[in-house]
Amino acid sequence: MEPRGWLPLLLQLGLMWPPWAQPEPQLRVFVVPHSHMDVGWLHTVQENMQAYVTNVYNSVVEALTLEKKRRFIAVEQEYFRLWWDGVASHWQKRKVHQLVAKGRLEFVLGGQVMHDEAVTHIDDQILQLTEGHGFLYETFGVRPQISWQVDPFGASSTTPTLFALAGFNAHVISRIDYDLKEAMQDNRQLQFVWRGSRSLSAEQEIFTHVLDQFSYSKVPRYEGFNWDGEAIFPGPSLDGKYPSMEIPVTEDSIPDFTHLLGKRVLHKASWFQTAHILWPWGCDRQFFNASLQFANMDIVMDYINSEASEFGFSVEYATLGDYFRAVHSDQVAWQVRDHRDFLPYSSDMHHAWTGFYASRSGLKALARRASSLLYAGESMFTRYVLLAPHPYLDPAWGLQQLQQLRWAVSEVQHHDAITGTHVPNVGDMFVEHLSTGMQGVHKLMASIIQDRSPAHSGKRGPEPGGHFAVVYNPLAWTVTTIITLTVDFPKVSITDESGLPVPAQAQRSKDMPSAYDLHVLTTIPGLSYRHYSIRPSRSSQEETGEPEPFVAKTTQFGGRLRRYGGQVGGSLVPVKNGCYIVFMDLDTNLMHSVWERQSNRKVYMTQQFMEYHANSDVWQGPISDNYVFTPSGTAEPAWEAVRMEIVEGPLVTEIRQYFYRLPTFTIYSRLARGPQGSDGALLCHHIEQEYQVGPLELNREAILRTSTSLNTGRVLYSDNNGYQMQRRPYRNYKNNTIARNYYPMVQSAFIQDRRSRLVLLSNQAHGVSSQRNGQVEVMLHRRLWNNDKWALNNDLTLNDSSVVHPVLWLLLGSRTLTSDLHQRSGLALQHQPVVMLREMNGEIAPRGSGSRQQEAVTLPPSVHLQILSIPGWKYSSNHTEHLQTLQKGHEAKADLRRVLLRLQHLYEVDQDPVLSRPVTVNLQSVLRGLGSVVSVEERSLTGTWDVSEMRRWTWSMRDPHGHRGSGTLPSPPPRGPEVTIYPKEIRTFFIHFQE
Ligand SMILES: *[C@@H]1O[C@H](CO)[C@@H](O)[C@H](O)[C@H]1NC(C)=O
Ligand SMILES: *[C@@H]1O[C@H](CO)[C@@H](O)[C@H](O)[C@H]1NC(C)=O
Ligand SMILES: [Zn+2]
Repeated sequence: MEPRGWLPLLLQLGLMWPPWAQPEPQLRVFVVPHSHMDVGWLHTVQENMQAYVTNVYNSVVEALTLEKKRRFIAVEQEYFRLWWDGVASHWQKRKVHQLVAKGRLEFVLGGQVMHDEAVTHIDDQILQLTEGHGFLYETFGVRPQISWQVDPFGASSTTPTLFALAGFNAHVISRIDYDLKEAMQDNRQLQFVWRGSRSLSAEQEIFTHVLDQFSYSKVPRYEGFNWDGEAIFPGPSLDGKYPSMEIPVTEDSIPDFTHLLGKRVLHKASWFQTAHILWPWGCDRQFFNASLQFANMDIVMDYINSEASEFGFSVEYATLGDYFRAVHSDQVAWQVRDHRDFLPYSSDMHHAWTGFYASRSGLKALARRASSLLYAGESMFTRYVLLAPHPYLDPAWGLQQLQQLRWAVSEVQHHDAITGTHVPNVGDMFVEHLSTGMQGVHKLMASIIQDRSPAHSGKRGPEPGGHFAVVYNPLAWTVTTIITLTVDFPKVSITDESGLPVPAQAQRSKDMPSAYDLHVLTTIPGLSYRHYSIRPSRSSQEETGEPEPFVAKTTQFGGRLRRYGGQVGGSLVPVKNGCYIVFMDLDTNLMHSVWERQSNRKVYMTQQFMEYHANSDVWQGPISDNYVFTPSGTAEPAWEAVRMEIVEGPLVTEIRQYFYRLPTFTIYSRLARGPQGSDGALLCHHIEQEYQVGPLELNREAILRTSTSLNTGRVLYSDNNGYQMQRRPYRNYKNNTIARNYYPMVQSAFIQDRRSRLVLLSNQAHGVSSQRNGQVEVMLHRRLWNNDKWALNNDLTLNDSSVVHPVLWLLLGSRTLTSDLHQRSGLALQHQPVVMLREMNGEIAPRGSGSRQQEAVTLPPSVHLQILSIPGWKYSSNHTEHLQTLQKGHEAKADLRRVLLRLQHLYEVDQDPVLSRPVTVNLQSVLRGLGSVVSVEERSLTGTWDVSEMRRWTWSMRDPHGHRGSGTLPSPPPRGPEVTIYPKEIRTFFIHFQE
């Protein structure tokens, strides 16, 4: 059909204004070429590099060089850097520098990957952005301004805050509930100003664009405009032919293309308030033959522009920056959105994407362990480099070890990585990268320890079986906790660095029957070490008078069958510490209740493992898979009987509950006894639970359900990325109500009534839901299979037969108490002291506090040391100077005296009467233990901006005073070493120390 032919039809449909009436400005269409390149999904990074990624950058650089008007946006920095460092020629690099400088090749988002927003932790999100941004700034002197979070499965409201802090001017998301998106389209509300935090001032708001139903791709996928065809593996194609290549644009075919584009544009125009239309051009794995793409599209666009008045619009190639600059110039008063997120995400009535909150639970755990190890390694290394006068290890080597793990942790934040939505061999790749990175950092830590505490030759002879334990506290607070060492023999003597005996408790290891777990009570100041010596006692205690660890006493309780009603609670066993009495019910061997001493309240609480059953036959109805959760009905108990053991000792009492059908489920609950008072508050106020779950039967989704007497009205609270809490009232839907009431839990969730709150803390992501009053359930593991052809061909069925060992901390108490302890406890769980064991070799332990004086780093309780590291960037903090260096083509040296410090205020404005106050910190005195602070520069979140030079676009709003948060003004950059940090603020600094 000729273009003229369809215009009147669209006019009748009211889809456009007639060109002769001219009451509206002419539509301007911004065609933004892009390729969506998953950093691991169906193929590994290397496979993707070979099949298409390398050709994307090779051919895009060529195509853009040929024709001035062409543009491209580059997203995933892991790929770009692999190409830049390993493939790109001198000529290509020079061209890229020119294209970037002219704004024709634009880096958007700029992270190593396009991170998932539901199951990732804020620290890891910042890390992966920082890694990419550091590289881009170092190499090109540019700083990404626009985000491109178009594929993550739901959008978190942490993201707008982070992106604002990173200096972004606009934020693009796409996957939100289908019904909400429809409503936003109808009401022209796809664009708004988002204030992601209720505590932060308007400084942290960001203009947000939700892609319409056509998303970043085409629907249906192969409808036009893809002249590349589909990438083939292992590829690339030898004859340049690929499947599904679009027919070329010719005189004959051009009307079809212009018709299609016009129809799409007019459709889109009806959903937006401005006459500027964003038309993302690309999809997964495209532009590996960019010249072909552009050559065809050039013709389509030239044709339309030559008849623009008849089409009613013009088209141009654009970057996202071009598009948003145009939108910014529009005189529109934008709607404001508050801090609510877009989770969970349903793509239609039957597809609730809440399964991935628990898919590949083992990888989710490993990803966070790696992140915690990196966190500890970064500050250990920084401390070491700043303080060691003659470093024994080469700092460049140390930096390399950290760098490797930074990359691996960044990579696994990808929206098909930590989400568990990849195929098994890609999962193996993530695990391998993480493991290699962790090994390197372990090696680094061992070297630092060796250098810190050189062996002293002692008077005693060699002591077989003797060990030194070095324990490092990576948090910037004093921590009192129990560490666990594995020893061969229960009769040991353990002494600290002053030679004094240390409280300890030994018991048979549950993992290694021949070994013993040695629980040791320790108190460690912030960023500091403790040293312990552990020796087998050769003689009995009576002879030497040396105290030995208490050997815990085990009591067995026989199996109890699952009951259907009848007498319970007739016979209770209490297990106590200073804060709680947990009552176990001997009629069932289940938990019965918890008495919380401080508020003197007994809360009935019982726990059991249950399973949702899933359909596996796509012909029988909707299935559950890596992405979606579609239970066939309500959850059913996953056991027939419970056996119980109680292992009692002076430091820790452990309740072991074995749930039987097959021995698939276990709960180890631990109550610790530490010192009284504030030092021991965190240790005392939680019940630690470790679970053993798996291998599951096929098509089961395993949960731990905790049912309490709290009157919660089915309201659940769960976190966004460990940063802020969201209120999650139970909602009824036509279909899929169970699944659509599932939410991600990255670090915490809670339920409460007027008097008490039960907080769950975790050190990995899970799914969480409250299906009944007083209940909270955590999805711990999933094992699924289905007979969908595509899933089978790609090996994407989540047949995960692993055993997982997640850990939760349960905090029960008044709202005041729990909101005080919640954040710090979450961090204490995430960042437990690092324990390093070393064999004794005819040496004695160093006396005093190690061979070198150490001074603690202690922050106020509401401020968290989010990172302390030496990034090793090669750019000057002075932008002008940095650009001059780049211009001269000089390669600067890594600055090892520049320390990256990031502080986070943990509390919301109204959370706690004391802890929610702004806090003033004198960095010079807080960091005294690391050296003498020479200067403090405040930087943007990812380090690339001097905050006093960062100017973000402002947007006019419909209710500029409506949803403001606390009204606190943005803090001015520090003039000296004193900084004041307001609730929920995240502040990033470069600190320079005296040589
Ligand atoms: C979805 O809900 C509608 C209305 O309640 C119902 O008729 C239909 O059977 C449901 N579909 C499924 C698959 O449960
Ligand atoms: C940055 O460097 C330039 C050029 O060397 C200099 O003129 C300018 O004063 C410096 N700016 C700051 C804030 O130090
Ligand atoms: Zn993707």
